[in-house]
Amino acid sequence: MANTQTTRIAILISGRGSNMIALSKAVASGLIPNARIVLVVSDKPNAVGLQAASELGHETLIVERRGRSREEHEAEIIAALREHKVDLVCLAGYMRLLSSCFIEAFPHRILNIHPSLLPSFPGLDAHHQALIHGVKFSGCTVHFVDDTLDGGPIIAQRVVPVLDDDSEETLAARILEQEHEVYAEALALVVSGNYEVVGRRVVKK
Ligand code: GRF
Repeated sequence: MANTQTTRIAILISGRGSNMIALSKAVASGLIPNARIVLVVSDKPNAVGLQAASELGHETLIVERRGRSREEHEAEIIAALREHKVDLVCLAGYMRLLSSCFIEAFPHRILNIHPSLLPSFPGLDAHHQALIHGVKFSGCTVHFVDDTLDGGPIIAQRVVPVLDDDSEETLAARILEQEHEVYAEALALVVSGNYEVVGRRVVKK
């Protein structure tokens, strides 16, 4: 059954936050009905995206690691998410791996965007990996987060050609444009509830 209740979304960032901005604008423009971004969390106090989030009218929260264990750090984030009654978590350039404890707290309720066509080139430096490998097409992937590295069920992908004269920067810039669209599209699907996860496949109902 389609979801008509408001889905409360938190976005986790570590840096620039351009995907966070894209999701915020998609919600504001009605592209993602029945959704509300209730919190933007950063593990970095100087994340550029924090100011943008505030300017967009979002509540922000900085949760620094500060030498604590991953579990302690995550426990503080999870508590804030629970306090804000968050239904769905979007990772948007959040540069930390989540523990299984975090993932189990939001099963199939955490989304991530990765700048390659997974399962190719998971982890860091995806654009570098794509150029070194010599692929002719790369792209971006929105997937559910599980306890594998960038390995959860794929919700949506976009293909981007790799040009002969591409540098990491030019390829990243073209992929980023697609990231902003495909993340909003994937989030709209998940918020709508019109999908099911069958094995590894996310299929529309
Ligand atoms: C994006 O390329 C995203 O795919 C990757 O980290 C980058 C974050 O960019 N996970 P931004 O902070 O959303 O601008």
